[in-house]
Amino acid sequence: MKKKTFRDIDVAGKKVFVRVDFNVPQDETGKITDDTRIRATLPTINYLVKQNAKVILCSHLGRPKGVVNEKYSLAPIAERLSELLNMPVKMAKDVIGPSAKGLIKDMKEGEIVLLENVRFHAEEEANDDAFAKELASLADVYVDDAFGVAHRAHASNAGIAKYLPAVAGFLMDSEIVALSNAVSNAEKPLVVILGGAKVSDKINVISALMKEANTLLIGGAMANTFLAAKGYKIGFSKYEEDRLDVAKSVMEQAETLNVNLVLPVDVVAGSEFSPTAKRKTFDAQNIADGYQAMDIGKKTQKLFAKEIKNAKTIIWNGPMGVFEFKKFRKGTLAVAKAVAKSGAVSIVGGGDSVAAIQELGFANKVTHLSTGGGATLKFLEGATLPGVAMLLDKDEDKKKVKTPNFAEIDKKTIEKPKTAVKKTTVKSKSKAKTATKTTSKK
Ligand code: 3PG
Repeated sequence: MKKKTFRDIDVAGKKVFVRVDFNVPQDETGKITDDTRIRATLPTINYLVKQNAKVILCSHLGRPKGVVNEKYSLAPIAERLSELLNMPVKMAKDVIGPSAKGLIKDMKEGEIVLLENVRFHAEEEANDDAFAKELASLADVYVDDAFGVAHRAHASNAGIAKYLPAVAGFLMDSEIVALSNAVSNAEKPLVVILGGAKVSDKINVISALMKEANTLLIGGAMANTFLAAKGYKIGFSKYEEDRLDVAKSVMEQAETLNVNLVLPVDVVAGSEFSPTAKRKTFDAQNIADGYQAMDIGKKTQKLFAKEIKNAKTIIWNGPMGVFEFKKFRKGTLAVAKAVAKSGAVSIVGGGDSVAAIQELGFANKVTHLSTGGGATLKFLEGATLPGVAMLLDKDEDKKKVKTPNFAEIDKKTIEKPKTAVKKTTVKSKSKAKTATKTTSKK
């Protein structure tokens, strides 16, 4: 169901409570290291300011667990936002206390107030009804632009929407449209690239996307579980022993569904899990005992790039290696480059994948950089997101945007279908270089 947006309601002169996700990475000194999530909310904020709304911004930062903790104050974010907007942003010292209420009372049309970290109240994550009501009492209208937290049912998204007319902001709306279209209206071949640490984190999304994808490229530590499931020697690489069956089942399912599942053929391994580890490249079938896989190797980078080049649609989530260690980020950067150069419709989500695209200056070469981590995965799985479900439905414009039929996507574990699913024709894939069983959809 398409959701109402801020354009569907009158906000002029009104107090508008805007939930944003300013949960941005910071270094030890509190300096913001990536402001993508702040920048992504600018269209909504600018629009509301132009409409003469009184803009009340609310966000969480980190996980302060219901306790006031300066380390998680939104003050540095207010500063950055003010720079980006080129206008003052008043920072409240609390969320529903005298500072916030005082600033809001004195607000003039077109002004902005940022509330302090909403997670300084334990009631936020508990989705406490009385707290949600208090938040709602600060404003006349609710705009949700916090896609990154839409998979959580908290007071400042799911709770507050019961008490105010609730609509989507520009970012929320564009995330819903881009992610929906990437799956349900994808031009084929659809190449899905998944990385990150654990198979268990991604199994639901693998299960859902496998039904649509032509090619599935797997990197990161989660690939180790697949390599182990194939009986390869993986040194002391991190893997999930209790997920070997799941990995086997995914590989069987790929074969049944004609999905070209590609695993690393070589890895860059480290002598220890450290940024200064000794590096050595190994064939993925035979990693030496004193080493662990920490990135994909050059052959794999080429192999993945070749598949990416053939794509018409790409969904990428998760790094190919230990991205936070400079020595082990080349694989992720190579994938970022290939995605940016592909010319395909490309959807990139997850902190490290987005950071890799940003680092290379390729943000404008990607169709959609998703601001969600967990939220993006949940959405792609076909799960109902509490932060989306509670927004007002839009009855009109049904024809403009095709509603995805996620109901048909099995969110549970992989089940073997009775017959193989036939998909759109795809150029035949090279099997020669892959160490895995690969198949081509016909
Ligand atoms: C995120 O960074 O994924 C969102 O801001 C949600 O944060 P959380 O995982 O702490 O709820």
